[in-house]
Order: sequence, then C-alpha cells, then structure tokens
Amino acid sequence: MNPQATSAPVLSLEHLGRVIDSNPLLNDLNLELSAKTRLAIMGQSGSGKTTLLHLASGMDQPDAGRVVVCGQVLSEMPEPERTQWRAQHIGLVFQDFNLIDSLTVAENIEIPLWLCGLSDRQERIQRLAEALEITALLGRLPQALSGGEKQRVAIARALVHEPALLLADEPTGSLDETNAAAVLNLFSDITHRLNCAVIVVTHDPKAAETCDVVMHLKGGKLLPDRP
Ligand SMILES: Nc1ncnc2c1ncn2[C@@H]1O[C@H](COP(=O)(O)OP(=O)(O)OP(=O)(O)O)[C@@H](O)[C@H]1O
Ligand SMILES: [Mg+2]
Repeated sequence: MNPQATSAPVLSLEHLGRVIDSNPLLNDLNLELSAKTRLAIMGQSGSGKTTLLHLASGMDQPDAGRVVVCGQVLSEMPEPERTQWRAQHIGLVFQDFNLIDSLTVAENIEIPLWLCGLSDRQERIQRLAEALEITALLGRLPQALSGGEKQRVAIARALVHEPALLLADEPTGSLDETNAAAVLNLFSDITHRLNCAVIVVTHDPKAAETCDVVMHLKGGKLLPDRP
C-alpha cells in the first residue's frame, strides 16, 4: 500500500496558509515528515490543529501553499480523485470519531477496505479488533458504545488499509490510561512495520512524549518543542 520511496518525505506542507473569517489561522506554515516518524502537535484550543489535519488530508483546501503526500500534490488534485487518493493512502482519526450510526462496528471498520477494493477484509478487521480489544463489539451499532470504545473503533478504521500517513486528532482523548498506552504503542508498532508517518494531535504532554518529535501550533506556525 505504501508508495513511499525511502528518503522522500511522506508529508510536505509548503508555505501553507488558511484564512478563517478574514483572519489568518495558519500562516506560511512549513513541515516535512519522513516515514517511520511520529510527530505530536500540541497547541491551545482554537489554534488550528484540526484545521491543519484536514488540510494535510486534502479534506480542506489551503488558501496558500501546497500539501504534498507521497510525492502527490494533494492540494492541486481535483475531486473526486483527491477523495479516492485519500481513501487509499491516508488514515484519519477524527476528533469526534465520525462513525456511521447505521453501520455496525465491523462495517464501519470495513469502509476503507471497500474504497480501496482490498480483499482479506475479515482477517484485517479481526487482527485490529484484537489489538484494540474491540472484538466483542464488532456486531454492535455505534450508539451502543462508550466514548472510549467509539474512539478505538475510529482508530481501527483509520489503520485497516495500512495507510502511508496516519493523522490522528486527539486519539486518546476519551481513553483511560491503559487503553491510551495501548493505542500509542500500536502507533509506534505500525510506524515501523508499515513504514508510515503519523501525526498525533494531543493536549496530553505524556502522550506527546511518546512521539519522536513534538511541535506546538502557535500564531499560525509550527514551533519546535525546545527551540
Ligand atoms: N469551517 C469553519 N468555519 C469557520 N470557522 C472555523 C471553521 N473551521 C475552524 N474554524 C475556526 O478556526 C479555529 C481553529 O479551529 P480548529 O478546530 O482547527 O482548532 P483546534 O486547535 O483543533 O482546537 P481544539 O483543541 O479545541 O480541538 C477556531 O476558532 C474555529 O472556530
Ligand atoms: Mg481540534
């Protein structure tokens, strides 16, 4: 699945700008993220972290600059190619989970596999369900899940197609300490096993410390943890 050559960055954000209500939210923001690297992004509520992940995934379009993922200029790719490309190469864990209420847990996790046309579906779902301890929930509807269970289903859905780039928006926000540690371990494992890059947006300094690099989103730019 991973089209990434070994040395080129998985994700490049080049002079990225995003204006909200005539005010610059992201301003000449630059980032290069290599394979096998986990980046934690911290920052105040409203600083633009979710917006940044939406831009990096091609779900939102920048007002300035470029988004390049695995050599593809995502910000210049027309729809519906962009959506199809995202479905194949990017995994997204949404801050509010975005599970489809009318589908079971197993069907929710299966969505990226439909979009990618991948087979061995049940095997992949079972493997991730075991890793995230949600096997017993596979037949349930999302409304019958706790917040932490929904979060783990959302993580399984983001990983099931083995993306080159995983973008996770507060992926441990609803989890207890044990489950949070398990998810962060899983991210570490897949980063190396799948040769992928991961961005974790978090308010939790302990979660951020488990990543390879920590940056802060402030004033529309990404700043190093220890300048
Ligand atoms: N589509 C939109 N229309 C108008 N304002 C928006 C839109 N998307 C985001 N904003 C605004 O942009 C700012 C940044 O939002 P964003 O969700 O990126 O913040 P965040 O850093 O993820 O915050 P949190 O930590 O609370 O999740 C906020 O002030 C938000 O209200
Ligand atoms: Mg957010």
